[in-house]
Amino acid sequence: MENREEEDVSRSLKAILLGLLLGVAGCKVSAPGKLESKMASQLKQKLTVGGKDDQNPLPVSPENIREGQEHFSHHCMVCHGLDGQNTGVPFADKMAPPVPLLTTPDVQRFTDGQLRWIIANGIYPSGMPAWKGILNDDEMWKIVHYIRHLPPAGSLGVPAVYKQEQEEHAAHHKRANAEKPHAESAHPKHKHKQTD
Ligand code: HEC
Repeated sequence: MENREEEDVSRSLKAILLGLLLGVAGCKVSAPGKLESKMASQLKQKLTVGGKDDQNPLPVSPENIREGQEHFSHHCMVCHGLDGQNTGVPFADKMAPPVPLLTTPDVQRFTDGQLRWIIANGIYPSGMPAWKGILNDDEMWKIVHYIRHLPPAGSLGVPAVYKQEQEEHAAHHKRANAEKPHAESAHPKHKHKQTD
């Protein structure tokens, strides 16, 4: 099948170019400049992300967006927040590369098909997992609709998992602080005997 061969060739070409790209990035001591990041993201869009011409088979309906949101809040929320804008995700900036706001033009520029491809295959090497086998196609296409209709940042609040953690953290600090004066009172300062 010549189609297959062509695919193989283009795949190894991709691998070589990506290797070059990573090699260049690896030699840099400083963080990549704006132009380099832009080049990298454009290369990523052109070379590694498939599915460009795949059409979303599901209509953009409130129902589909809502279901997409539901799946998103189960599977993606831990890294992307409920709103796709990292709200309440404590480590979002600390991942390498950081978790992007899904509202940014860099992400929104992908076609629906590319977004589905990214969800299915993940992004290697980064923290973005592959969901093939976990989510079915319909679920992924619905999530794509949700990514196109994200609510304002912060409007859905902090995910419950992190809210609890933050509260526990705060409670821990409060407890620790409360223990201080307590500890002092357990060892009362020497009191002079009143002599009269
Ligand atoms: C374990 C953390 C984690 C989870 C869970 C996660 N992601 Fe991501 N996601 C990332 C990181 C990190 C990136 C940045 C990857 C990069 O730029 O190379 C990312 C990037 C993306 C991008 C943008 C890709 C790009 O190249 O700009 C999309 C779209 C995305 N994620 C969608 C999702 C969806 C939908 C889900 C749930 C089905 C999900 N993610 C679950 C960590 C995660």
